[in-house]
Amino acid sequence: MLETLRSVIRFRELELDPVERRLGRVASVSDLRKVAKRRLPGGVFDYIDGGAEDERSLDRNSAAFADIEYIPRVLRDVGEIDTTSTLMGKALPFPLVLAPTGFSRIADSQGELAVARAAARAGVPYSLSTLSTRSIEAVAGAADGDHWFQVYVWKDRGLVKDLLDRAQESGYSTIAVTVDTALLGRRERDVRRGYSLPPKIGLDTIIDGMVHPAWTADFLRAEPITFANIAGMDNDGSTAVTLADYIASQFDQSLSWDDIDWMRGIWPGKLVIKGIQSVADAKISTEHGVDAIALSNHGGRQLDGAPAPIDLVAPVTDEVSGAIAVICDGGIRRGSDIFKAVALGADACMAGRAYLYGLGAAGERGVDWVLNHLHDGLRQVMALNGCTTIADIDRETVRPRPI
Ligand code: FNR
Repeated sequence: MLETLRSVIRFRELELDPVERRLGRVASVSDLRKVAKRRLPGGVFDYIDGGAEDERSLDRNSAAFADIEYIPRVLRDVGEIDTTSTLMGKALPFPLVLAPTGFSRIADSQGELAVARAAARAGVPYSLSTLSTRSIEAVAGAADGDHWFQVYVWKDRGLVKDLLDRAQESGYSTIAVTVDTALLGRRERDVRRGYSLPPKIGLDTIIDGMVHPAWTADFLRAEPITFANIAGMDNDGSTAVTLADYIASQFDQSLSWDDIDWMRGIWPGKLVIKGIQSVADAKISTEHGVDAIALSNHGGRQLDGAPAPIDLVAPVTDEVSGAIAVICDGGIRRGSDIFKAVALGADACMAGRAYLYGLGAAGERGVDWVLNHLHDGLRQVMALNGCTTIADIDRETVRPRPI
């Protein structure tokens, strides 16, 4: 009996590294999200995970991918799959850019440094947020990947110019100007919790911290969180503020196409407008010397009811393809989502929450895990669709799911 059992049972080797053990049980970004939810205090998780108002755009961003199905081709020799692509004249190992996300140190104390290192290892660009918790220079020094800098336009244009100069001196290749945040969207999970940045310590936070000891120990050991790019200024975030108040007081609601022209004039690198949400604005972008647009509703965090970026890819690329590059930003959780965006005409995708779940669940190795998962997933879905190169992924490979 024991002999028979022994012949069929193989004991798994005991994994002593807790991070590897955690990642060993994860199969998808959705699994990582669950791990992040367990490990992070509720307010932090909700800040990352949530969206504006009824979260319709947030949900639709991902759900819209499910409305697209493949037209798989077979018997096409898929022994070699090449996922390399080009974005604004630069080669990418696969068509992905990591989206800017402010305040990444709330997910893990290494924050933006960890994300930049993982992105550099994978060979994909990483966009550092204006509201990052590691500075332009620190991120450039931590990894020698392709760095992008995301720009929020402050009322103080001298400050914007100074940030762009610093990005240029630190070797950033690209700026992404975010244009969907004249005011902060009403993120009701944060409103309910009275959530501030950095998180304010109240009785509820202390209890939450006790329930999430690993996060709390990491948070307390690290130096205090501030908006690292403007550290030392009165608006550097070292006093707790609600993001809505901060943005309303600091960012310029009068932002217009003239400001894009101004930035085009002072920034010698590539320029991306992030937050285009209509065919009309995509067409206007082509007249302002920009290199790319990111179709984006800010991950459903701004205007609830804004269209899902994937639904804009075909109509926008029909109008502007060839003139400027088009990036699909929002809802990317699998390599198959990247395939669908490319099939409809996108040059690349951006992903935000996917890597933040990785960071919150397992730190830097969690971000590595996500990048490998997205790349492997793309490779697999290409093989199963009979596509061996990115150029093979065209409109003939997908169709709307019959209802
Ligand atoms: C963001 N996003 C964002 N965008 C930006 O231009 N500047 C920023 O500082 C931030 N901050 C930020 C924080 C967090 C926690 C999230 C989740 C998102 C939006 C981000 O760049 C991107 O547009 C979305 O994350 C894309 O949607 P997915 O990939 O999260 O579904």
